[in-house]
Amino acid sequence: MLNDYSVEDLDEVEAKKELIRLNEILDRANSDYYNNDAPNLSDSEYDILKKRNSDIELRFPNLKLQNSVSNKVGSKPSNSFKKIKHSVKMLSLANGFDEQDIIDFDHRIKKILGHEDTIITYVAEPKIDGLSLSLKYLDGKLSQATTRGDGEVGENVTENAKTIQNIPKNIHNAPSILEVRGEVYMSMDDFNKLNIKQEKNNAKVFANPRNAAAGSLRQLDRSVTASRPLKFYAYAWGEVSTPISDTQYNAINKLRDFGFSTNDLTKKCYGPKELIHHYDKISNKRADLGYDIDGVVYKVDNLLFQDRLGYRSTTPRWAIAHKFPAEIAKTWLQSIEIQVGRTGALSPVARLKPVNVGGVIVSNATLHNEDYIKGRDSKGNLIRGGNDIREGDWVHIYRAGDVIPKISDVDISKRNSTSKPYSFPTLCPECNSPSERIEGDSVARCIGGITCPAQAVQGLAHFVSRGAFDIEGLGNRQIEQFYELGWVKEPSDIFKLKLRYENGIQRLENRDGWGKKSANNLFNAIEAKRKIPLNKMLYALGIRHVGENSASLLSKHYKSFDNLRKSMDEAKNMEDKKWSELLSIDGVGEILAKTIVQVFCNPSQRKIIDNLVDELEIESELNVLVSDSAVDGKVVVFTGSLERMTRSEAKISAEKYGAKVSGSVSKKTDFVIAGPGAGSKERKAIELGVKVLSETEWLDLIDINKLADAK
Ligand code: IVH
Repeated sequence: MLNDYSVEDLDEVEAKKELIRLNEILDRANSDYYNNDAPNLSDSEYDILKKRNSDIELRFPNLKLQNSVSNKVGSKPSNSFKKIKHSVKMLSLANGFDEQDIIDFDHRIKKILGHEDTIITYVAEPKIDGLSLSLKYLDGKLSQATTRGDGEVGENVTENAKTIQNIPKNIHNAPSILEVRGEVYMSMDDFNKLNIKQEKNNAKVFANPRNAAAGSLRQLDRSVTASRPLKFYAYAWGEVSTPISDTQYNAINKLRDFGFSTNDLTKKCYGPKELIHHYDKISNKRADLGYDIDGVVYKVDNLLFQDRLGYRSTTPRWAIAHKFPAEIAKTWLQSIEIQVGRTGALSPVARLKPVNVGGVIVSNATLHNEDYIKGRDSKGNLIRGGNDIREGDWVHIYRAGDVIPKISDVDISKRNSTSKPYSFPTLCPECNSPSERIEGDSVARCIGGITCPAQAVQGLAHFVSRGAFDIEGLGNRQIEQFYELGWVKEPSDIFKLKLRYENGIQRLENRDGWGKKSANNLFNAIEAKRKIPLNKMLYALGIRHVGENSASLLSKHYKSFDNLRKSMDEAKNMEDKKWSELLSIDGVGEILAKTIVQVFCNPSQRKIIDNLVDELEIESELNVLVSDSAVDGKVVVFTGSLERMTRSEAKISAEKYGAKVSGSVSKKTDFVIAGPGAGSKERKAIELGVKVLSETEWLDLIDINKLADAK
């Protein structure tokens, strides 16, 4: 089960699958939240899944989905309201969850600004849990109100917004164009009263004040909005014809002078310590505020600095939301069970006495791996103060997603004196093969391979999944059925199904869940995939570390399956030039290389591959994709002092266009960007014949206009 693993433990195949899974969940959650005003995940579950998604993207940047939720803000606007394009995008905020995240945030900012020795001034204010709204004033008159929508296009809710009492309809001495942004929300009291009324009238009862606020603002009949007690807090601005201030703090004061409500807990803070102090203060007051907040927002005060720090695709670099922690429940850990994954990974799962965590009954929690149970993380550092987890313990649970929740702590004081440390199995519970743990790997794996039923079934399920053979009508359920019937034990059997079960005695159409038509459809779907591109076939084999991306690299390099197979045979001898050739492929490291050679040279695994190949027509690689960025995939080194940007800004811009930034010059370096004072690195580049560029030449190459557009 992928979602059990910490991000560090995922290999490329698992990471790819996990990104697809997370994006599906998050897209659905976005739509439920923004369009239907009915969430299916709690906010903290959403945040944790979103963080997991971006952590995986950070580890495997090449796997980031084109349509990733990380690039999206909110959800597409609904069709019920007219659309308005925001003149200045409405962005979201990056999240931080603990003190370290905030210290890192401050550190990043100082580094980008090149102010490592000064204390940065911030503005901290509560993060109100409502929905954002942009109010456009033309010559002081409220002329347009727009929801965030997907950040670029929102919904025109002008008439509804005009019914909100504390939104000024006219303001004085304001710039001729002024867009004020803030949060529409409902107080707890008003929310409770509204729900009582709704229940009485047999109308929709809202899950929380945020949904009540969103549902109330987005009413087609403005008189319904008018009857709902909505409020508005201003905390930002969009388009302005003349700047309203030079600091965030003074700008908020200015908005207050214009007549907007602003939050009394808005405070100027000097450095991260003061931010965290204010966070603690707000956190202690949270229950008495009378409105829902889900964290504290920190923003760089100096607006010139904000400008220089700029934006990522959906969030400003100059702000962060420090979120409150997820809800925790306590329960009894009844037993520890081991699940076996596709790659043979033995994953321990805690079976719990069912407990309510944030409105959901939880009975399982992930225990990750052997070290985690013993009280250590994947780097060997102590977790939970080094306390181990045992069957019979009292544990603290929080929900980290929609599937398996996590254990945050164990209550040693409640431990039974007769309890014993958990001893991790040395045999696979599914097939009794020994398990092995390779040095440096936190996961123990069953060595049974395809002879282990758990691995075989999951391997076959991967084989037919999206991105691999993608056979319509052949999903996990059917694979399990065919495996249990003994019809499909290895991939090649899938292609023999038709011949054996169309006309034979054991006709598929006579089996549970199958009829003549569905059996025929399946056989046709399988036939359609006999012809398959080399990269898909390689990915489908489910070799550890060979994800879609590395399968493509291998396919592009070796062009045909025959050439690849022959090369792997020769690469077995690490002295052979075929081994160095494999390692020379950009993106193929030693671990991947060893794994793929081992698989091709292991007789039983080779037999499975050869059996499969006999059934297929594998298409050779012909086309090479060309990226539209001139520096995509190039290795670059910055040296000397840069004049038009800081080193961090330079790194960010290079990576944005697909380049890899390295600290040292070697034969693999494509460009060295040398500013004044460049020394040994520039010399080495010249020695090695690596192209040396000035900062301006570099900016021309990545196209500075594109960079400015992105800001
Ligand atoms: S600033 C460019 N400040 O949180 C930055 N947002 O998770 C724009 N929110 O979309 C946002 N309180 O709906 C900001 N004090 C505050 C906020 C706040 C609540 C909401 C807002 C935003 C979301 C991001």
